[in-house]
Amino acid sequence: MSAFIEQLPKVELHLHIEGSLEPELVFALARRNGITLDYANEAALKAAYEFDDLQSFLNIYYAGMSVLQTEQDFFDMTHAYLQRAHSEHVRHTEIFFDPQAHTGRGVPFSVVVTGIHRALEQARYDWGMSSRLIMSFLRDLPEASAIDTLRQAEPFHGWLTGVGLDSAETGNPPDKFRRVYAMARDQGYRLVAHAGEEGPPQYIRDALELLRVERIDHGVAAIKDPALMAELAENRIPLTVCPLSNLKLKVVNTMAEHPMGELLQAGLCVTVNSDDPAYFGGYMNANYRALQQGLGMSNSELLQLALNSVEASWLSPEEKALLN
Ligand code: ADE
Ligand code: ZN
Repeated sequence: MSAFIEQLPKVELHLHIEGSLEPELVFALARRNGITLDYANEAALKAAYEFDDLQSFLNIYYAGMSVLQTEQDFFDMTHAYLQRAHSEHVRHTEIFFDPQAHTGRGVPFSVVVTGIHRALEQARYDWGMSSRLIMSFLRDLPEASAIDTLRQAEPFHGWLTGVGLDSAETGNPPDKFRRVYAMARDQGYRLVAHAGEEGPPQYIRDALELLRVERIDHGVAAIKDPALMAELAENRIPLTVCPLSNLKLKVVNTMAEHPMGELLQAGLCVTVNSDDPAYFGGYMNANYRALQQGLGMSNSELLQLALNSVEASWLSPEEKALLN
């Protein structure tokens, strides 16, 4: 591993906390909660991590998180991610969680958010690691369910900085969530959305224009639309790109074909992130290394990506100054 990458102070802006659940913890929580899994052991579960596309991943991702039942489970999962991130010199992290994937199984919103929040506070206390929490709506469910989730979040608004949109992209365009985004905006939430992962460049435009998001999660489809690329560059709209995720979900066939280099050269505010590191073969350092090895990125390009993440983060100007 390159010492430059290891020692680079990093900021992560696109991490699904449920996607950090390693097979060992899946089985430990299953045992603790008396749950029988469809897989005999950790090796059998890991062997199933061969994906053809986003949906084939989502099926396993939702099955894996079914072991999460108690506040302690959510704490343990979040703490494990933060410990790993801290060991890789991640200084600040902005984390998604999928409340509907838990409330839909009968786990109360309060249990989920309290367990995650407690771990974030401990990381701030123990390591000075800062964070923001983003509640993400599942776009394959109706907008009414997202509106209900926004209502359930009201008592916890102080712990939640933003809202996002994830899960199956194709056929679930941003337009479907116009009202709930307007409501969230009125309540003071900051706004992001997954767009242009498997979906077309038009979904990126729609997320910006109809949902009024300030950052795009993934957004790699912008490479197919030069006019959109120019607009993203001019307005410094950040893209939270996830190289190893794109490779594992076959958004790109090889890392050498990944558009990150071209997007950076074109002046976009592109950033490096791990998405669902337990499933995609690596945390932050592995994602930086994939760009170094697959695209031949130089240390100065990698540094620019890390600086872009500071710029794109929701840290205050004072907090940003302390990081740089
Ligand atoms: N949920 C977790 N990871 C995701 C991804 N990469 N795209 C969409 N939804 C997700
Ligand atoms: Zn994601």
